[in-house]
Amino acid sequence: MVHITLLGLVLCLYFATATPFNSNTVSKTTDYPLPNQGHVAAHDPNILRYDNQYYLFKGGVKIPVFRAPELDGPWERIGTVLDDLSTVPKQNRRRPWAPTVTYWRNRFYCFYSISKNGARNSAIGLASSDSIEPGTWTDHGALINTGTGPLSNIYPYNVTNAIDPAFFADPQTESPYLQYGSYWDGIFQIPLTDDLSIENPTHPDADHLVYIPDEKRKPSEGSFMNYRAPYYYVWFSHGQCCRFEQEGFPTEGKEYSIRLGRSESVHGPFVDRESKDLLDGGGTVIYGSNHGKVYAPGGLGILSSSGDDPDVLYYHYHNTSIGFAQGDAQLGWNYLDYVDGWPVPRAPASRGSNLQPTSYLTFVALLCMCCLVYTLHYKGLIGRKSTIPLVFLIALAFLWIQH
Ligand SMILES: *[C@@H]1O[C@H](CO)[C@@H](O)[C@H](O)[C@H]1NC(C)=O
Ligand SMILES: *[C@@H]1O[C@H](CO)[C@@H](O)[C@H](O)[C@H]1NC(C)=O
Repeated sequence: MVHITLLGLVLCLYFATATPFNSNTVSKTTDYPLPNQGHVAAHDPNILRYDNQYYLFKGGVKIPVFRAPELDGPWERIGTVLDDLSTVPKQNRRRPWAPTVTYWRNRFYCFYSISKNGARNSAIGLASSDSIEPGTWTDHGALINTGTGPLSNIYPYNVTNAIDPAFFADPQTESPYLQYGSYWDGIFQIPLTDDLSIENPTHPDADHLVYIPDEKRKPSEGSFMNYRAPYYYVWFSHGQCCRFEQEGFPTEGKEYSIRLGRSESVHGPFVDRESKDLLDGGGTVIYGSNHGKVYAPGGLGILSSSGDDPDVLYYHYHNTSIGFAQGDAQLGWNYLDYVDGWPVPRAPASRGSNLQPTSYLTFVALLCMCCLVYTLHYKGLIGRKSTIPLVFLIALAFLWIQH
């Protein structure tokens, strides 16, 4: 009997020290906080706050829509934006990528990309609705073409890839803009008209925002712009986004991370913390892989502060104990503090913070203590009367530590 409990004790200690994931490719840095967990799988999430609820749009067949009362969930799938295939006559029309939805002049607009891996034959499509609900949207087809299609030969469409749209309405001028891109020649911003078509469509007055001049691979994409006086911020994802199981894990730091630069003008130049221009390969990492748990965060967006709540940075990431397939990507988010005008993700509120034992460790530790008490009892070192209260007290102590 003693041997069995001792064996139990040894096994407990073994499981308590073993980590579920052991890859050297995942940074264990604590420089970035853990995410608040959205409790929903989402790659390239886009979130809109409307009517006291959150709506989440993500890449997927016909553009899936979810709704939740809080960012933490519970997220309910309520349908899709498109009723059918996208009307953009290109490949992969069934499964648009990286949608972005905005409420503009009493109408909802959904920009989406039609593309495929490694191809520049892409388009930014647009759908609109006077209600946000699935079943009410009209698809208007392509707004921007690259590779083939109307106007794909003009600058900057002739040097870019029409993916990852983002919408920005300048709060200072109320002018609307579309950002997109890209790999290839980086990320551009195009002025829109009031009904969200391209202003001056044959000669768009494009601003080049992000570019990596010296390297053959230019893995910048998934941009987003927000404004917090006095700065405009350009956010983007940099590095390998996905296909980790097919292509293998890149060296640490080459996977997706969330980067940024700022400017006092919506037209730039945007510079990072070291004053390096984003057109010169600059970009301060604001959020990257961390704690050996969070891998390749990107595909981000910002929810600008409402009332007393701070701005929210949301994104997808891979939880190393869930998996690395595209469908495994999880929604995560953090409040933002601005320090000297630079955004800093805030750690989740203390409940369940990284300093406290996880429930798994607590359970194992509890089991170990019970084994120990039982062994002591069995060897006659403590009396029958004190065994049960002791176990009870230990359980209470652990429950208290947890909270
Ligand atoms: C793109 O278009 C611009 C303006 O017409 C032109 O100067 C440039 O050479 C073109 N680039 C490519 C790669 O076709
Ligand atoms: C990762 O997933 C595990 C298992 O579902 C969960 O316990 C843990 O809290 C998650 N961590 C993060 C940072 O998502």
